[in-house]
Amino acid sequence: MLAHATVLQSQTQPFIHVDNVCRRFTHGSGTQTVLANLTFSLHRGETVALLGRSGSGKSTLLNLISGIDQADSGTVVIDGQNLSLLNERDRTLFRRRQIGFIYQFFNLIDSLTAVENIALVLELNGVKPALALEKTQKLLETMQMADKASHFPAQLSGGEQQRIAIARALIHSPKLVLADEPTGNLDAETGRHMLHLLKTKIQASNSTLLLVTHSLAVAQTADRILTLDHGKIQERTGDFAW
Ligand SMILES: Nc1ncnc2c1ncn2[C@@H]1O[C@H](COP(=O)(O)OP(=O)(O)OP(=O)(O)O)[C@@H](O)[C@H]1O
Ligand SMILES: [Mg+2]
Repeated sequence: MLAHATVLQSQTQPFIHVDNVCRRFTHGSGTQTVLANLTFSLHRGETVALLGRSGSGKSTLLNLISGIDQADSGTVVIDGQNLSLLNERDRTLFRRRQIGFIYQFFNLIDSLTAVENIALVLELNGVKPALALEKTQKLLETMQMADKASHFPAQLSGGEQQRIAIARALIHSPKLVLADEPTGNLDAETGRHMLHLLKTKIQASNSTLLLVTHSLAVAQTADRILTLDHGKIQERTGDFAW
């Protein structure tokens, strides 16, 4: 009975619930409220686009959801786990296992090759190095990046670094992928290919994707569109000019 109730609960509860979250930054000139009592939910398996003007707080929000940063008040609950109740070590472990993050500025490790940057995620999750390399090589092939496997980030173009960053976020089939403008540095055709790959992987593992984008065309491929404006989230309804 209890097990049944738990299953039902996990089906009806949102996968991610952001509740009344505030994030402020203090500068020399005063305090800036970036996220103001923000509340919204994401359900398991859905792809949600997040639009908002530059400086509206999109990356700040992704950092809070991933547990890299912490809210000044309010809670972020992922799969029933309140992130603020975890200590730093457990938050790191949670992020490492459950989340794939495609950073706006890639955040690749300069001293590791492309293949090592990606395989590291698997190794940190306990996969043996030989198997981690094998899996990574396979993924690089599907991303048409196999010939760049032994390049260091500085030897890759911006778009190639972005593809490595996408591969690193997907390699461990995480339940949640946070993507901060994942196609921003790619030409139209490569961008479409990467978006397709991202979605195929997400769907195969019934994962949830939160996708920051400045492109309405990219946003329109999502199940839902949220907009962030003046610290508040709104669901997009009907057509609007961006
Ligand atoms: N660590 C920080 N310290 C101080 N201010 C910060 C910090 N991080 C973000 N901010 C401020 O918060 C605001 C939102 O920044 P954020 O990077 O989240 O915007 P964004 O919506 O991702 O913009 P873009 O589309 O340009 O990437 C900005 O005004 C920024 O200056
Ligand atoms: Mg940003």
